[in-house]
Amino acid sequence: MRSIKNEKNLNSKKILLRLDLNVPVENKIISDATRIDKITPTLKFLVQQKAKIIILSHIGRPNGKIVKELSLRPVKDYLQKKLNLDIKLIKENIKEIKDKHYFNKFDEKILILENIRFYSEEGKNDLEFARHLASLGDIYVNDAFSCSHRLHASIHQISKFLPSFSGLQFDLEVNALNMITTEITKPISCIIGGSKISTKINIIKNLITKFDNIIIVGGMANNFIEYFGNNIGKSIKEKNCKHIVEEIIELSKTEKCKIIYPEDVLVSNELNGTSQNKELSQILSHEMILDIGPKTINKIKNIIDRSKTILWNGPAGYFENPNFANGSIEIAKKIIENNKANKIFSVVGGGDTVSLLNSLKVIDNFNFVSTAGGAFLEYLEGKKLPGITALN
Ligand code: 3PG
Repeated sequence: MRSIKNEKNLNSKKILLRLDLNVPVENKIISDATRIDKITPTLKFLVQQKAKIIILSHIGRPNGKIVKELSLRPVKDYLQKKLNLDIKLIKENIKEIKDKHYFNKFDEKILILENIRFYSEEGKNDLEFARHLASLGDIYVNDAFSCSHRLHASIHQISKFLPSFSGLQFDLEVNALNMITTEITKPISCIIGGSKISTKINIIKNLITKFDNIIIVGGMANNFIEYFGNNIGKSIKEKNCKHIVEEIIELSKTEKCKIIYPEDVLVSNELNGTSQNKELSQILSHEMILDIGPKTINKIKNIIDRSKTILWNGPAGYFENPNFANGSIEIAKKIIENNKANKIFSVVGGGDTVSLLNSLKVIDNFNFVSTAGGAFLEYLEGKKLPGITALN
C-alpha cells in the first residue's frame, strides 16, 4: 500500500478523497464528530500540499435513493468552520457532472459530492460509475478504513482507474490493528454489541478460534436469547440465522472459546420508555430488550478481570436513551479501571461505541480507539478487505 503522506508532487492535483463521514446527525446537528476530527490531518496535509480535494463520502444507508435527512450538508458546515476554509457541497447529479465544471476559482480548495449512497451504483460496485467518478480527479486516496469492508464503487472499483493511495488515518488504523493481532497477550476477550447485526453475526464464527471469551450483547444477543427458547417480544433480531447461532455454539465447544450472552435484560414497551429489569423467561410479547441487566454486567466484569486483552465493538444497549445506557457505561468503567491499573490492553471500535465513550468523556482511557466497526472485526477475522485489496 502506498501512503499519500509520502507523495510530494501534489500541487494542483485533483484528489478524490474517500472519507467515512458517517456521523450521527439529528435535526441537522452532529452529535459526535470524532470521525470528522480524525480525518482532518489528511485534509490539512492535502491543503498544505496545494492539492485540490474532492470528498466522496456517505451517511447512513439510503440504498440508492435521495434521502434529505442523509445529506452531507451538516458535515460540510462543520468542516468549513473547523478548517476555516470555504467548502462547496455539490448537489447536482454526480453522474452528470464533469471535472471542468469545478475548481475554476483560484481559491477553491475543497468540494464535497453529496452522499455517494444516493446512487445505487455505489453499492453495486458499478464499473462505469467508478470510471466516471475517477474522471473527476487525478489521484484517489482512501482515508475511510471503516468502510473498507464494503465492496463499493468508491472504495474498490475506482482504484482501477487512478493512482491510488491510503490516507493518514487509514495508515494509523491498519498499523494499530496489525500490532494488536501480532502482539496479543492472552486471555483475550471480545465484547460485540451494537445494532448492525447482519454485519457482525457472520463474523463471530471466524473469531472463535482467536478468542478465549466472546461476549455478545446489543441487538445480536437477542438472536441467542431466542435460540435458547426465550420470548424476545418486539426486540430487534436478524432473521433466518438460527443455523449461524447453532454453528457458533457448536464451534465454541471444540475451540474452547466461551460464548457469553445476557442472563438478564432491561426491557420497555418503546425505545423512549422507562426500563424494567427482567429474567429472560419473563419477557412479554409487547416488550423489547434494550439493555443488559445487573447479573449480566457482573458476569462481564468478572471476565474483564480475568482478561489481559479486551476488544470492544458495539454498545450493550440502546444508549441513546439514558435509561438503557447503564450496561455500556459499566463495561466502559470496568475496562478503564483495569487499564489504569495496567492490567489489560484495551481496544475499542465502531461509530456508536466511540460516540458513547465521547459522551462520557472517557475516550482517552483506552489503548487504541478505532473509528471502524464492521471493518475492524473483519480485519481481525483475517479477511481481505476490498478497500485494502484495491490499494494493493
Ligand atoms: C460504519 O459506520 O461502520 C461505516 O460508515 C460503514 O457503514 P455501513 O455499515 O453502513 O457500510
